[in-house]
Amino acid sequence: MTEDQPDRLLHVPLAGLIGMPVAHSRSPRLHGHWLRRHAIAGHYVPMPVMPEHLAEVLRVLPRLGFVGVNVTIPHKEAVLTLADAVTDRAALIGAANTLIFRPDGKIHADNTDGYGFIANLRQNAPDWQPDAGPAAVIGAGGAARAVVASLLDSGVRELRISNRTRIRSEQIKAEFGARLTVYDWAQAGNMLDGAATVVNATSLGMTGKQPLRVPLDALSPGALVTDLVYTPLMTPFLLESQARGCRVVDGLGMLLHQAAPGFERWFGPRPEVDEDLRRAVLE
Ligand code: ATR
Repeated sequence: MTEDQPDRLLHVPLAGLIGMPVAHSRSPRLHGHWLRRHAIAGHYVPMPVMPEHLAEVLRVLPRLGFVGVNVTIPHKEAVLTLADAVTDRAALIGAANTLIFRPDGKIHADNTDGYGFIANLRQNAPDWQPDAGPAAVIGAGGAARAVVASLLDSGVRELRISNRTRIRSEQIKAEFGARLTVYDWAQAGNMLDGAATVVNATSLGMTGKQPLRVPLDALSPGALVTDLVYTPLMTPFLLESQARGCRVVDGLGMLLHQAAPGFERWFGPRPEVDEDLRRAVLE
């Protein structure tokens, strides 16, 4: 224990989410379910934080008994410069979603999005083989970077990527290397030809947004198709892929799995991602 931090054994452990906005996040429900399930007298609090207050908030939270926080838009990149230690995967992705406030006062930053993405596929498509054929990633934003890093790490040998703003996919190729091929947005349908794994990592298809309009004619019926959008659970892209005979995995499991390492580091037990949790988060 450092002088300016409370004795954690005497305090209810606190964790939460910092971002702007945070009001609609499902994370409080998710962690609340696990806290109840494990009978831990802790709390998970959504906290709206303005960018100009980020550094100050990160100094103060550990003193209030916080053991860590999740980080969302717009702070995922900025926290890297404020952390004392950054994991390799967070550095590679260029963003963090999980902070751990260590008892020695140091802030440790990690990114569990890629882990959550792969854990969701492994749980819901156990026979999925990353090296069965090329992977095609639609989108090149922050979420896509985590997906690309985790697919390459899992053994995907060829990865195709396409994004409306081509320069962002070129940038990802420049950072992640020779296994990547960039397709023009107008040609995105072509990269599905022969792809074994197909991912929508754009926000298209989300309730209230336009659907993803990439033509799916080249999609093979044997492909595994997944979407990072989980509102609705079955996006138009997943429904059409399913109608073409593909196996589909919805994106909710990624949200659930990315939360598990943080909960374990903050509160102790490794939590379960199961049907009860899905129900609790969807309620
Ligand atoms: P996130 O962290 O969720 O990935 P982001 O970094 O803002 O958020 O990325 C959003 C992704 O959705 C990007 O790939 C974006 O494409 P651009 O880089 O061209 O902006 C994609 N996206 C959002 N709206 C889109 C639209 N109307 N048409 C095509 N792509 C869109």
